[in-house]
Amino acid sequence: MKILLTGASGFLGQSVLEKLLNSGYRDIVYPRSYQYDLVDNNQVETLFKRNKPDRVIHLAADVGGIGANMKNPASFFYNNICMGINLIHNCYLFNVKHFTFVSTVCSYPKFCEAPFREESIWDGYPEETNAPYGIDKKSVMVMLQSYKAQYGLDGCCLVPTNLYGPRDNFDDSKSHVIPALIKKFIKAKESGAKEVVCWGTGKATREFLYVDDAAEAIVRGMEKINDPSPINLGSGYEISIGDLVQKIREFVGYEGEIVWDTSKPDGQPKRFLDTSRAKRLLDWEANTVFDDGLKNTIKWYSNAVN
Ligand SMILES: NC(=O)c1ccc[n+]([C@@H]2O[C@H](COP(=O)([O-])OP(=O)(O)OC[C@H]3O[C@@H](n4cnc5c(N)ncnc54)[C@H](OP(=O)(O)O)[C@@H]3O)[C@@H](O)[C@H]2O)c1
Repeated sequence: MKILLTGASGFLGQSVLEKLLNSGYRDIVYPRSYQYDLVDNNQVETLFKRNKPDRVIHLAADVGGIGANMKNPASFFYNNICMGINLIHNCYLFNVKHFTFVSTVCSYPKFCEAPFREESIWDGYPEETNAPYGIDKKSVMVMLQSYKAQYGLDGCCLVPTNLYGPRDNFDDSKSHVIPALIKKFIKAKESGAKEVVCWGTGKATREFLYVDDAAEAIVRGMEKINDPSPINLGSGYEISIGDLVQKIREFVGYEGEIVWDTSKPDGQPKRFLDTSRAKRLLDWEANTVFDDGLKNTIKWYSNAVN
């Protein structure tokens, strides 16, 4: 069985590639964007013609934290929706058997009763700062569902909450909240800064899933699921941004002040997923304790910069 894995050089992709190899999969194609730009349908067609995959796991995406989403709504929408459209349509043309799609918690309505259940995904507009990204992912999910209904393309649609872990993107222009905070606190400790400024009020809550736990669920999704209805992936651990900041400060060993810049957005007020479907269908539960995962991530980043 030949697997085409997109986004394999990314944060999640590296972990999924490792899981696939550890699970015994050997015939895996994982091109970089400079080899095949998946936004361009001609390049996707050539990729399929040359490689003839049996299964596709699609992770490639243009992603980032609140700042990146606010700065790039158009390119995030265009690039992500084009990649999804090109890949799914070529799966149909080239008789691919299965498409695993990784969506996002940003697809959920801004005001959604927590824990978010999969049935609620269409109940309202997503939080404004990440709506274009969340809606392009939902649109690709609908495309996959319609290709299953009309052409019999099997698939799976996983909806992970925010991920974290070693090898995350620490680039200021694209980083999510955990890498951005780790970098800020390490920098402040090293420079002896008296205070660290954090975005928002600290009151919003988030759920974070360790990257290797997500990778395990994705491989199971490819193996077990033939119905592209959404399946949430979460850790079951909800934390406020204020408490997260305190933990990172403590684990990094920074002793200065924390100042909240309330002129900056909090993003979605509350995020926490119901994961009972994943438990039932994938026989999967996240098993990384948040403090352990956070310490691993801080250690990995400290080693990478020193
Ligand atoms: N990180 C999170 O917290 C999170 C949470 C929920 C869902 N997700 C989803 O998980 C997936 C992976 O996210 P990530 O955080 O691992 O992203 P990432 O680290 O930014 O990696 C992005 C990957 O996409 C590839 N890519 C981007 N544009 C491409 C293009 N035009 N053509 C071909 N490849 C392209 C990149 O390849 P090159 O390096 O070769 O350019 C890279 O491998 C995404 O679908 C994302 O929506 C992520």
